[in-house]
Amino acid sequence: MTTELKSVLVFGATGVIGQYVIRALIEESSRFDRLAIFTSPSTLQKKVEEIQWLREKGVEVIGGDLTNEEHVLRAYAGFDTVISCVGRNMIKAQIDLLRWAEESSPNITRFFPSEYGTDIEYGPQSAFEKPHQGKLQVREFIRTSIRRTEFTYLVTGPYIDLYIGKLSQNPHAGSFDVVEKKATLLGSGDEQVSFTTMKDVGKLLVAALRNPTVSRNRALRVCSFTTTPHEILAEYERQTDSKWSVEYTSLADLKTLENIAWEAGDPMASIFTLRRIWTEGGTLYESNDNQDINMQSSDLDTLADAIGRAVALNGQEGFQSGDV
Ligand SMILES: NC(=O)c1ccc[n+]([C@@H]2O[C@H](COP(=O)([O-])OP(=O)(O)OC[C@H]3O[C@@H](n4cnc5c(N)ncnc54)[C@H](OP(=O)(O)O)[C@@H]3O)[C@@H](O)[C@H]2O)c1
Repeated sequence: MTTELKSVLVFGATGVIGQYVIRALIEESSRFDRLAIFTSPSTLQKKVEEIQWLREKGVEVIGGDLTNEEHVLRAYAGFDTVISCVGRNMIKAQIDLLRWAEESSPNITRFFPSEYGTDIEYGPQSAFEKPHQGKLQVREFIRTSIRRTEFTYLVTGPYIDLYIGKLSQNPHAGSFDVVEKKATLLGSGDEQVSFTTMKDVGKLLVAALRNPTVSRNRALRVCSFTTTPHEILAEYERQTDSKWSVEYTSLADLKTLENIAWEAGDPMASIFTLRRIWTEGGTLYESNDNQDINMQSSDLDTLADAIGRAVALNGQEGFQSGDV
């Protein structure tokens, strides 16, 4: 059994959540012997400044195609941990990444598949949710074909940073517009949801690495805090010192919009489904696993922190965790 995870290779490190994960690893870089990212040739060309910044922080940069066995096996050499932050359209490609680790890279002892979201095995209905299917296939492959390589699923629930933003394509799926000071709240506004900030996803992942025995071969259900749409609105009103205009999308209306979106092949369909699951209570547990990896509430962001960053951005998109 692994006792220490010391050399870490990250896939998808320049993506939405990967940027936060790699920054959290850099902050704790003294704990690691090696930190590296595996990235595509197109990212090497398009994200020159980000790649340069990572190199300056001591991160090794390995270019290659993650669907190419030779590239991946070469990259795996000398690492004990793989952290995958690949995006939704590459989720199933992780089956090969896992197979190559299991069969040909005995040095890889731990694999973190790209999860960082809704619990895909929350209850019996989860098996039928369309957005979960790729991740469920990855878990099924691990269950049936992985014997040696250890794994950890970091289940964080929704990112509050995205939930409290403006959803311009379709505000009926829930939206907070800090410029116009108007919100569309889901459900009655009083349903609880457990959220994680993107910054805390990185912190919690590092905590899982620091506690390799307890995080071994399981899902870790973690979060920054639990709140409701009404509490989010109240915090926005407090921090902007103004009254916002409010509309609601009831759970029944959300389900109707979800069905229409799936039938029309609308890319918003997954967002409707996930937000319906969250509003139905699909992020709530009697207790979470924060304590298992020694994370206290005081280590993590609060709702006020998250709203404070959103207010400071004033509707602009931006990287929200700051430099390290
Ligand atoms: N909880 C939530 O609210 C929430 C929200 C969004 C996402 N998530 C989850 O977080 C995980 C990561 O999602 P993300 O949105 O951060 O990912 P993303 O930004 O869409 O993509 C991450 C990286 O995947 C790599 N990639 C490799 N091949 C690719 C290809 N053919 N097309 C696109 N990307 C490719 C790219 O890195 P390189 O170019 O460096 O190879 C890319 O930067 C997923 O499991 C997703 O479900 C959760």
